[in-house]
Amino acid sequence: MRSLSYTLISKRHNKQGFDCGVPGLNHYLAIYAGNDHQERFTKCYVAADDGDNILGFYTLSSYAVNINALAASATSELPRYPTVPTALLGRLAIDVNHQGKGLGGSLIVDAIFNTINSALGVWAINVEVKDRQAKSFYIKYGFYPFEKNEYALYLPLNDKITRNIFFLKLH
Ligand SMILES: CC(C)(COP(=O)(O)OP(=O)(O)OC[C@H]1O[C@@H](n2cnc3c(N)ncnc32)[C@H](O)[C@@H]1OP(=O)(O)O)[C@@H](O)C(=O)NCCC(=O)NCCS
Repeated sequence: MRSLSYTLISKRHNKQGFDCGVPGLNHYLAIYAGNDHQERFTKCYVAADDGDNILGFYTLSSYAVNINALAASATSELPRYPTVPTALLGRLAIDVNHQGKGLGGSLIVDAIFNTINSALGVWAINVEVKDRQAKSFYIKYGFYPFEKNEYALYLPLNDKITRNIFFLKLH
């Protein structure tokens, strides 16, 4: 493998050979990701090698959370609207042959970059996790758990960490 490209999913990508170890996520990529993307229900981004094999992917959609679900410390300076505009990182997975090499982290950076660059106002990225292991992965990358739902996390985009990531990606 010579290089990786980070792009929107397209017909040229090989979606069948991907295996992240979670059948539901493999199935989603193989069967639904392209269509959901085409119908604008999600934007699906992939990291692919120079043979168009997908090594990792994630999806982003518009979302909103109730302002009362966030920690008071996070919302004290926010406008008092009932909902806060966010982006949902609906799915994120890395092929088993490439896990543990930082690719998951680089896709989170890519998701932050793409969200910050979107035309919409977005205060944070949300994610819902299936277990505590996945939760610790996101916490490592700066996400905060919701107070009342331990399987949901958010990453404010005005946070210093994300501004640094944005800077790194540009330079
Ligand atoms: C979770 C997943 C996306 C992580 O991607 P990855 O490329 O392997 O992760 P990275 O190499 O960027 O890992 C970064 C850190 O997170 C930790 N980490 C990675 N996967 C983890 C997991 N499942 N549980 C706990 N920690 C994890 C790593 O130990 C690493 O920390 P370290 O640098 O201190 O060792 C990947 O393992 C995966 O696709 N798993 C199957 C699908 C899945 O569970 N998706 C999440 C749905 S909520």
